[in-house]
Amino acid sequence: MNILLLGANGQLGRSFVEQGPLAELGSLTCASRDGRRFDGANIEVANFAQPDSLRALLDRIEPQIIINTAAYTAVDRAESEEALAHCINGEAVGHLGEWARRHRALVVHYSSDYVFDGNAARPYTVRAPTNPLGAYGRSKLAGELALQASGAQHFTFRTAWVYGAKGQNFLRTMLRLGTERDLLKVVADQRGTPTPTRVIVDGTIVALQHWLAAAPEARAQMEGTYHLVTRGETTWHGFASAIFELAQTQGVLNRRPFVEAITAAEYPSPARRPAYSILDTRCFEERFAVTLPVWQDGLIAVMHELAFKDSETPC
Ligand SMILES: NC(=O)c1ccc[n+]([C@@H]2O[C@H](COP(=O)([O-])OP(=O)(O)OC[C@H]3O[C@@H](n4cnc5c(N)ncnc54)[C@H](OP(=O)(O)O)[C@@H]3O)[C@@H](O)[C@H]2O)c1
Repeated sequence: MNILLLGANGQLGRSFVEQGPLAELGSLTCASRDGRRFDGANIEVANFAQPDSLRALLDRIEPQIIINTAAYTAVDRAESEEALAHCINGEAVGHLGEWARRHRALVVHYSSDYVFDGNAARPYTVRAPTNPLGAYGRSKLAGELALQASGAQHFTFRTAWVYGAKGQNFLRTMLRLGTERDLLKVVADQRGTPTPTRVIVDGTIVALQHWLAAAPEARAQMEGTYHLVTRGETTWHGFASAIFELAQTQGVLNRRPFVEAITAAEYPSPARRPAYSILDTRCFEERFAVTLPVWQDGLIAVMHELAFKDSETPC
């Protein structure tokens, strides 16, 4: 079975490569925007800004499973580059779906809590009405809809507040700033679920194993949209406070800055973000018979990884 991993250099793509589970399922081909992998290896080129170019790669590799972790993720920049965000997150995903439908391949795609407006008072179910607040959310919703409309077999996993020991993310920014500053002001009126890449990789593999073991009719019932995030909830301020507490006790940082709670209004940014980003994961957990970890356990595992990383600095 041929598996194509798109976006191999992003946080999630890199986690797939480093954790190694896809290579156990089949013959894995990786692709990135420029054909270089994070470790210097030469891999395939897949530039989502030129959606038409993806077809030639797909025709050559002939994947039975396409894992798409590539995305335009610059939430604030998307406000001034909406056409590009839409091309990468929407149009290109539609092209993947079209090819997959014609070749009976499965597309595994990732979307975002930003497809919701954050006005809810209880966790969003997978069927809750979407209403993105900004250009990034609109582009991610366009991708979801394009994939559905393509008629391809697919999983869309909506996730949120993604981070890991590597890549660009909130945790690593906090650890860097924590070495430089005594006081950090962090937003305390946006709620979400910090989700390590490892949880998304593990969850994806469990879903794939169920899908591969199922008969065609059962596969069709299984496919669709799921929420794949950790359990529980916190704010960015709560997450930052937990990061510094753990970083100090695990020896990742030898100091702990004061973390002051501020409102989103006190930290203006080009894109509006949902105030409440909690996704209901029951469909995923029931369908694939797993219990997702609480966000605190996810953080402990990532901090452990940072604490025991050989010579590399954490940020
Ligand atoms: N990060 C979050 O907090 C978050 C939250 C909710 C959902 N998600 C979703 O989760 C998935 C994985 O996100 P992530 O955190 O791993 O993102 P990431 O670290 O920003 O990685 C995105 C990857 O997409 C690649 N990419 C961007 N433009 C491209 C293009 N034109 N052609 C080909 N590749 C391109 C980037 O390539 P370069 O390395 O060359 O720049 C990068 O490797 C995405 O679907 C994202 O929307 C993320």
